[in-house]
Amino acid sequence: MAEQLFFNSEDKLSRYAELRPQIEALLGAETDAVANMANFCAALKEAFGWFWIGFYIVRQNELVLGPFQGPIACTRITFAKGVCGSAWAEQKSILVPNVHDFPGHIACSALSQSELVVPIFKDHKVWGVLDIDSTKLADFDEIDQVEIEKLMTWFAGLL
Ligand code: SME
Repeated sequence: MAEQLFFNSEDKLSRYAELRPQIEALLGAETDAVANMANFCAALKEAFGWFWIGFYIVRQNELVLGPFQGPIACTRITFAKGVCGSAWAEQKSILVPNVHDFPGHIACSALSQSELVVPIFKDHKVWGVLDIDSTKLADFDEIDQVEIEKLMTWFAGLL
């Protein structure tokens, strides 16, 4: 297993291209979902330095906090509540340039300004979501949305 990640490029798309094979090498041979979620968050943190990166996993009618990188966070989110619960209910990723404009946004940290939530599908149902928060307004764009969706599709194949 690689013990260190390497990134040389400054532009975002190239950084995603650098990240992908390293993520595959890091997670591909491991079958434990918790271990893979933990390393996935750490790898994204190293690659992009975002404020908070973490998984919420579907448990009955709630999302429950999984492995994450960043400050402490809300442990349970109800179906259709907040950005995470909405991404689960709508079964699609949600890009929020300004969290203050999102009705019902759940503020785990007052420092969060923008957010990207991408659902993870298993057996055609939402298994969980990946939630990424930034302290900068509009820190995520369509490139992030598409690239993180691709990564989560690949990740789902490990489940
Ligand atoms: N902001 C999220 C809650 C999770 S924290 O950001 C880590 C939401 O509205 O669902």
